[in-house]
Amino acid sequence: MTDASRKFVTPLTFEAVSGNKVHTDTFQDALSHITLTAAADLMIIAPATANSIAKFACGIADDMLSTCFLSFRGKVIIAPAMNWRMYENRALRENLRALVSRGAVQAGPERGSLACGDEAVGRMSEVGEILEYARSALTRKDLSGKKIIVTAGPTREYLDPVRFLSNRSSGKMGFALAREALRRGAEVVLISGPSSLAPLRKAEFFAVETAEEMRKAVFENLKGSSAVIMAAAVSDFSPDTKDRRKKEKSDVLSLPLKKTPDILAEIGSMKKRPFLVGFAAETGACTDRARRKLLAKGADMIVFNDVDSPGSGFDVGTNQVTLIDKNGESPFPLMPKDEVAGIILDRIVDFIP
Ligand code: CTP
Repeated sequence: MTDASRKFVTPLTFEAVSGNKVHTDTFQDALSHITLTAAADLMIIAPATANSIAKFACGIADDMLSTCFLSFRGKVIIAPAMNWRMYENRALRENLRALVSRGAVQAGPERGSLACGDEAVGRMSEVGEILEYARSALTRKDLSGKKIIVTAGPTREYLDPVRFLSNRSSGKMGFALAREALRRGAEVVLISGPSSLAPLRKAEFFAVETAEEMRKAVFENLKGSSAVIMAAAVSDFSPDTKDRRKKEKSDVLSLPLKKTPDILAEIGSMKKRPFLVGFAAETGACTDRARRKLLAKGADMIVFNDVDSPGSGFDVGTNQVTLIDKNGESPFPLMPKDEVAGIILDRIVDFIP
């Protein structure tokens, strides 16, 4: 902590909430500015003031933070936070540019309400956002130069302007795949049905509703893609007709349905196509249907999961999957969806040139 930061919060508070020792004084332990940084993979300066940024840019080392910065050899993430007038200052901008040109990653700042009451750019990025920069900085870029299309969430098939058929998909698995692909350096196109999850900043994002809209968005983006991961729970059927006016109770005694376009199968039947991954959500542990789906839809890989098993499937943060491809089946234990995304992408990296 710098002198200035200690005017806002005491080291004791940080020690208590983080459970870590807080370092403030270069001379408390003569070598700590070397030993601390030598043991670290990543350094995050958050919030980074205009003063600290200027010191880092010039190589000034006159307190614990700036000496640590100077001695550090790993990846650096800088999350500026200051008044918008200071953020627009040319000296500050040049200092930041210098740091970025030397390899530092700039995270933020964001537009928002500042200490002076103004609404402007200068707020420190949300912690989750900075953490995402951190994860990305520590991830091997094995998908760099690859374009990956990911579909996520449910689709809605409308009966009339207010009612639709849909399913319980939250979009979590698809979003986790898109996030992990971004961390690995891919160019990501995320096409999602209605979901409460926030769009990913670095992905090209398409919000769709119906299976037909999802199909259109997928095919419009297909060119140049290395892989398509169909994690969306696309409705298999839609109402035969969509009424312009709200149906009355007596109108909907039965509901004629028609099949939606099968996006996975349509790509699977193309002669020249990207690596194709489908999902098979089944109730029950038997993988036979999923394996048949691999062949019937012409996919390269099917991610099977039993939505009935505890902790797996819809709207939870974890999933237990079996990856099925032409070489066989690989079952995995229950794990967070982020990690499931990791193993799926590991496979894709093995297959795509
Ligand atoms: N899919 C698709 N287009 C559809 C329906 C499904 O692209 N109209 C994709 C999904 O994104 C998913 C896979 O196909 O990757 C799921 O296949 P599907 O046959 O729909 O399987 P389930 O719905 O899981 O099971 P069922 O065979 O019982 O319908």
